[in-house]
Amino acid sequence: MTGYIRASIDSYGMSNSRKVHVKSFGCQMNVYDSNRMADTLAPAGFTETAEPGEADLVILNTCHIREKAAEKVYSEIGRIRVLKEEAARQGRQMLIAVAGCVAQAEGQEIVRRAGAVDLVVGSQNYHRLPELLARAQSGEKVVDTEFPVEDKFEVLAAPQREATAKRGIASFVTVQEGCDKFCTFCVVPYTRGAEVSRPVTQIIDEVARLAEAGVREVTLIGQNVNAYHGLGADGEAWTFGRLLRRLAQVPGIARLRYTTSHPRDMMDDLINAHADVPALMPYVHLPVQSGSDRILEAMNRKHTRDDYLAVIERLRAARPDLALSSDFIVGFPGETEADFRDTLALIEEVGFASAFSFMYSPRPGTPAAEMDDQVAPEEKAERLQRLQALVTRGQHAFNASFAGRPLDVLLEKPGRLPGQLVGKSPYLQAVQVMAPRSAIGSVVTVTVTEIGSNSLFGEIADAPQLAAVGA
Ligand code: SAH
Ligand code: SF4
Ligand code: F3S
Repeated sequence: MTGYIRASIDSYGMSNSRKVHVKSFGCQMNVYDSNRMADTLAPAGFTETAEPGEADLVILNTCHIREKAAEKVYSEIGRIRVLKEEAARQGRQMLIAVAGCVAQAEGQEIVRRAGAVDLVVGSQNYHRLPELLARAQSGEKVVDTEFPVEDKFEVLAAPQREATAKRGIASFVTVQEGCDKFCTFCVVPYTRGAEVSRPVTQIIDEVARLAEAGVREVTLIGQNVNAYHGLGADGEAWTFGRLLRRLAQVPGIARLRYTTSHPRDMMDDLINAHADVPALMPYVHLPVQSGSDRILEAMNRKHTRDDYLAVIERLRAARPDLALSSDFIVGFPGETEADFRDTLALIEEVGFASAFSFMYSPRPGTPAAEMDDQVAPEEKAERLQRLQALVTRGQHAFNASFAGRPLDVLLEKPGRLPGQLVGKSPYLQAVQVMAPRSAIGSVVTVTVTEIGSNSLFGEIADAPQLAAVGA
């Protein structure tokens, strides 16, 4: 299928040595997609630049999840428009493309509202970029937000070796995209479409390719990653647990993570993988949204508070050192002070290592936006503050519990001070240690000596792999 891309590039005669700047908003899937877009444009002579001012093409990869996120796009377009006008004065064409979930949700409306935009490309159409770009270059306003019949993953360029090496040693890989769950507050089923799993072989090949380019940690991503049911070469639909076990065998992969999982799809084989796949990190992001059964029902989450607690019990039984993070929405329509207290009580009961929390934002086209009993903004803000204070306390207690204890750290890049490297613990804490640059990519055991507000500090206690790399 790569012929599809090559044909479009050749026939539209794009010149070499152009620069693309891609800016991602929103979730990790947008980060992954941004890299795939850059990789897909590479054969057309595009290299990535961090400077929007020198780019021939600026892609804004947007998020529609809350009103604030969606509105941010327009102020960003305003900033890029100034650079575009400056480029035009210098006799240079700069194209502005809007991709991602706002593109999918608003389509044509974007070019109507922001005349500087040349191209709007929906989340399922990135493989068509070279062709769409050629049309935009000749002055047409291009909008492509149809859900296509062909599979974009079949056509999108695989991660490019050189670009991958520059992107660091931790990488995302989309294994599942879209959502059929229709929580009443959420736009994702509309912006990402129906749930689709990538075939097993495609994922194994991509992970192997990343590992060859130096990636040591892979986070498998999807809107409901544990609903994965991709087709294996054996003709069977593989479960997510089976996929994890297989990927743990890819040479060079030291760590596996996944996000986001849904409480309803926590099957036994995934829970068991936490017990017996050492590469699978003991840290799970499991959004619950609310601790009140009444609100969970109105959200159409299709699980109760007790169902959620039972999943956590099974996870902790499989892997006693497992820690959890979650997402919370405060001020969902009809949420009373008593409902909110149920959420606070759930947080105390579980003891999350970290959490993301949001004020409910009514989204166009979703059922909750039409519900009576919308909560007043001041009420939402006050609840958010109380919830975040509780989460922060829990987070500090979690971090403090590591003082003097050993932690395995995957060293990722130079740290704050000369001679320092920074890496990640199994729980995604940043850990700073003195170590030689050659140790980047190694997993070392670190004794934690100090707990900072944003990172932990430690000394290398044991580094079998450092000897192996000759440091
Ligand atoms: N697929 C994931 C979540 C994807 S969206 C899941 O099922 O949990 C990421 C988070 O954004 C959600 O978990 C939710 O907490 C938050 N969110 C989604 N829609 C929102 C809205 N309308 N207002 C406020 N927060 C929202
Ligand atoms: Fe949105 Fe719910 Fe689907 Fe998550 S499961 S993406 S919150 S609809
Ligand atoms: Fe945002 Fe789309 Fe991700 S709405 S959270 S970028 S799936």
